[in-house]
Amino acid sequence: MTGETTHNLRGDYAGMRPDYTVDQAWSAYSPEEHALWRRLYARQAALVPRYACREFIDSLAALDFGAAIPRFDEVNAKLARATNWRIVAVPGLLPDRVFFEHLANRRFPVTVWLRKPEEFDYIVEPDVFHDFFGHVPLLFDPVFADYLQAYGRGGLKADALGAIEMLSRLYWYTVEFGLIETAQGLRAYGAGILSSGGELPYCIESAEPLRIRFDLLRIMRTRYKIDTFQESYFVIGGFHELFDATAPDFTPHYAALAGLEPHAPRTVLPTDRLAG
Ligand code: PHE
Ligand code: CO
Repeated sequence: MTGETTHNLRGDYAGMRPDYTVDQAWSAYSPEEHALWRRLYARQAALVPRYACREFIDSLAALDFGAAIPRFDEVNAKLARATNWRIVAVPGLLPDRVFFEHLANRRFPVTVWLRKPEEFDYIVEPDVFHDFFGHVPLLFDPVFADYLQAYGRGGLKADALGAIEMLSRLYWYTVEFGLIETAQGLRAYGAGILSSGGELPYCIESAEPLRIRFDLLRIMRTRYKIDTFQESYFVIGGFHELFDATAPDFTPHYAALAGLEPHAPRTVLPTDRLAG
């Protein structure tokens, strides 16, 4: 996730490098933090077999990082071999351009701090559990990994075109809250749902939210809420679809959308293909 600004954000931005990276300082995590990590991991790992996509399930099993807050260096050795991505430690949310720059260079920023015990069920800002558990497993999938890099490059371009808001909606409805149609039925691939104890079953099973077939322009024109379960999810047929649909130049899309009022999160359009 990106933030517009680093003001009033949790996290220590004092000692960071110019690219906003810091050292993970793994030895500074307390035994209580490792214990909280284990509890968070155990809850999510139990939900994953029923609700996550195959690629996520397989990566999670291979990585096996449930025993303690992972050492970023260790996963980086594996990630380099798999997709040539790596994760970098950051104090928290980043300015858009810094975030895009990392993604464009196949670096995924992971927040170093862990939530407090009283935030077990709910947290507004991404912490190391969301960033690591939710995002890292799919960095091992070659197609998804390429999509994320393309997104970063697209972000730098969108910035120059004044279109970051539109592009951010794409990130939100895919990387964070995306659903995917599989042979086993509807599954989650978005990190925001995969790291949430409540929303992971909800996004698949609840009758409340809309589930709409992926539509690039429709998504870039749809607002989202950051403090409740989503009212609409968008469903892809596979990571190749995501990569292919987003490969063309967005410049004309941004121009076409510029004068249009965005849709509220819960809106059904005549052109929508409802899924699941
Ligand atoms: N094709 C997009 C552009 O021209 C870049 C992009 C790729 C954006 C993938 C998002 C995801 O701006
Ligand atoms: Co995220």
